[in-house]
Amino acid sequence: MNILEYKEIIQQNLENYFEEYKKNSSYSSVIWESMAYTTLLDGKRLRAIMCLEMAKNFGVDIKKAMPLACSMEIMHAYSLIHDDLPCMDNDDLRRGKPTNHKVFGEAVAVLAGDALISFGAKLIIDKLKNCSSDVVLDILDEYLKTAGAQGIVAGQVADIEAENKNIDIENLKYIHKYKTGALFKCSMVSAVKLAQVDFDTLSKIEKYADNFGVLFQVYDDIIDCTLTTDELGKTAGKDANVNKMTYVSAYGIDEAKNIFNSLIKENHDILIELNIKSDVFDEIYGMLNKRINR
Ligand code: IPE
Ligand code: IPE
Ligand code: MG
Ligand code: MG
Ligand code: MG
Repeated sequence: MNILEYKEIIQQNLENYFEEYKKNSSYSSVIWESMAYTTLLDGKRLRAIMCLEMAKNFGVDIKKAMPLACSMEIMHAYSLIHDDLPCMDNDDLRRGKPTNHKVFGEAVAVLAGDALISFGAKLIIDKLKNCSSDVVLDILDEYLKTAGAQGIVAGQVADIEAENKNIDIENLKYIHKYKTGALFKCSMVSAVKLAQVDFDTLSKIEKYADNFGVLFQVYDDIIDCTLTTDELGKTAGKDANVNKMTYVSAYGIDEAKNIFNSLIKENHDILIELNIKSDVFDEIYGMLNKRINR
């Protein structure tokens, strides 16, 4: 399967889950509309794809891992909705469309983000039925840690506190590791937990995912100042506008690209150690590379 084929089945499954839960819910329909709006817009689906591809490489059937992959995209949508709020990055555009709060208002957008966190967790409990309860509990633990103050929220708080400040590189690394890295790590680590891999393999996957999280946010920092709003589907030049310290402001574009490339090289070597040959991971790195070198 290639990226496009993965994207299609992920989209189909996300749509089905929304349909199923919306139908069986006593919630008012506007909250479901708001939750589905951002989640179902056209994203790259990298967290879900990397979750499925990792699972596949450790012998887990894609169908079995699908609810987990979808829960990662659902958590991602929560983080995007809250990230765009006026009290956070104050963005009007996401995935080429008006942001959630622009369409549904701030109150519903905040609540949709909250409800998405619990929706993703609910999918893990409801849909990973053919896994042992120990595995489900372990994955749920990862999920909850990642969504909150031991994961994305920790990074987002540090990110907001760092606005208009000259922070040190360690702090910048921390922000990237948590605001963005935590979810990539959760996507890949929880995928291999379905396969119950040994400790050494798990440590290598953790390192791989940590590297990916940072290189992905470095990529995002670069394209924020090199691509247009049209190409990004979100407002260009936002980081510089609000004086956010990023890998570009700290190192300049060329050095940021070097850091990005050296993390890709490290990850390439980890996959060799793990004896994994994945066209899909190659395709992902190719796609990111193409966009930062445009
Ligand atoms: C955007 O992530 C938020 C960051 C962590 C930089 P993506 O660039 O993966 O967004 P979508 O899912 O493709 O819209
Ligand atoms: C992404 O950081 C972090 C999360 C969404 C959790 P950014 O604020 O750089 O993401 P974009 O650029 O708005 O997508
Ligand atoms: Mg942000
Ligand atoms: Mg933002
Ligand atoms: Mg950004």
